[in-house]
Amino acid sequence: MSAQSLAKRRILVLHGPNLNLLGTREPGVYGTTTLEGINAALTALARDLGVEIRTVQSNHEGALVDAIQGALADCQAILINPAAYTHTSVAIRDAVAATALPTVEVHLSNVHAREAFRSHSYLAPVAVGQICGFGPDSYLLGLRALAGLLEK
Ligand code: DQA
Repeated sequence: MSAQSLAKRRILVLHGPNLNLLGTREPGVYGTTTLEGINAALTALARDLGVEIRTVQSNHEGALVDAIQGALADCQAILINPAAYTHTSVAIRDAVAATALPTVEVHLSNVHAREAFRSHSYLAPVAVGQICGFGPDSYLLGLRALAGLLEK
């Protein structure tokens, strides 16, 4: 078996703006689980799935673009909740398209059942898929999807 196939697969987990406030931010919409709680659940699931994750949160569009570009160096896939940038950022979409790494877009809330502007995602057309509406489980479902993809 080659060194490459023995290497553990690593997935970049990116959280966009205001997600650092999870736990207290609009709990009726986003629930009460903190970002640390979501990252802990992801880390535990990653262990079970035999993959590694690196988690990054930023409130800044350029920092998210830098992290996406940086994933090319040592990650094989991206799990991202771009938060409000989902609906505004061509730069994040272009960064994901440029890396060509398989990317899954996730949202805690069902963005299609909320204000009309949340139904449009700049990212979705360049993502493998979008998972929304399951609270923190959206992230766990997304991680499972990417681990399955990487196994193929
Ligand atoms: C969100 C949905 C977005 O519309 C919103 O701007 C967020 C969070 C979600 O996870 O449900 O910040 O991405």
